[in-house]
Amino acid sequence: DWTMGAYREEAIAKIREQVGDAKVICALSGGVDSSVAAALLHEAIGEQLTCVFVDHGLLRLHEAEEVVGMFRDHMNLQVIHAQEQDLFLGELEGVSDPEVKRKTIGKLFIDVFQKYADQIDGAEYLAQGTLYPDVIESVSFSGGPSVTIKSHHNVGGLPEKMGLKLVEPLRELFKDEVRALGHELGLPASFIGRHPFPGPGLAIRCPGEITREKLEILRKADAIYIDQIRKHGLYDEIWQAFVAILPVRTVGVMGDGRTYDYACALRAVTSVDGMTADYYPFSHEFLGETATRIINEVKGINRCTYDITSKPPGTIEWE
Ligand code: XMP
Repeated sequence: DWTMGAYREEAIAKIREQVGDAKVICALSGGVDSSVAAALLHEAIGEQLTCVFVDHGLLRLHEAEEVVGMFRDHMNLQVIHAQEQDLFLGELEGVSDPEVKRKTIGKLFIDVFQKYADQIDGAEYLAQGTLYPDVIESVSFSGGPSVTIKSHHNVGGLPEKMGLKLVEPLRELFKDEVRALGHELGLPASFIGRHPFPGPGLAIRCPGEITREKLEILRKADAIYIDQIRKHGLYDEIWQAFVAILPVRTVGVMGDGRTYDYACALRAVTSVDGMTADYYPFSHEFLGETATRIINEVKGINRCTYDITSKPPGTIEWE
């Protein structure tokens, strides 16, 4: 009789056997896969595990505090909070091409991870939250076998470069099994059910040049949008929802004054695997209420649109 509890014990035994008393490092993103991998490894090898959470300045409101707070303070993992906002935002200054953004972030991510990993004496293994579908499909998430639509950001090639061996404790699992295992390991449901968040973060939700001002506006708008979705009980029906801040400013009126502020687009889709997606059919009441809240509560936005593009022909993210 196969249960997640038994799987967990088996997985723990396997990790102990593979790793022995060597040290392991793990890039923690706060996503479901890396979170479950980290929690499982911690159960298996405790203090031999060090996680690195790279803060590239492109995270959502309070995201770094939430992830680091939970793993370090609540679950007692050793977590390095790499504060590298200035590095990433500095390198991205003036960059508006989506592929250049992705490549810049991907390269810096590896540099930064390596820098922190080098400080951990005697690390022999790199842990990754690779799932079974990643193993059987070498095809990227959004690209076809021969076409790359977007360069995805991951730590591929890193273990060889760093001379590290790989531990991949989730290699036999599908996404729903990873969630069940996360639950078994005591991760809160709010963490396990989180919408996916891309490695390049808010950079690809900010078409055109990225500025700290735009990021700050975007964070506030996004937090209100997600709050609305949760309040209406829609979060779990939606694969992914977010705000994109548009590189245009438009004219509006507020009180007796004229405004000239950014426009934003709300995005929400349903999907099974992210490969295809349909826009979510919110009610007009929901959309109207949400737009009103964002425009009233976020200084810097005076116009709100809803993106009704499905995938294909659109992609989920704006870049
Ligand atoms: P697109 O925009 O290609 O996104 O339709 C499909 C899914 O993949 C996520 N995504 C990424 N995830 N690194 C990631 O880890 C990336 O570079 C990346 N780009 C897109 C996107 O959020 C959606 O869930």
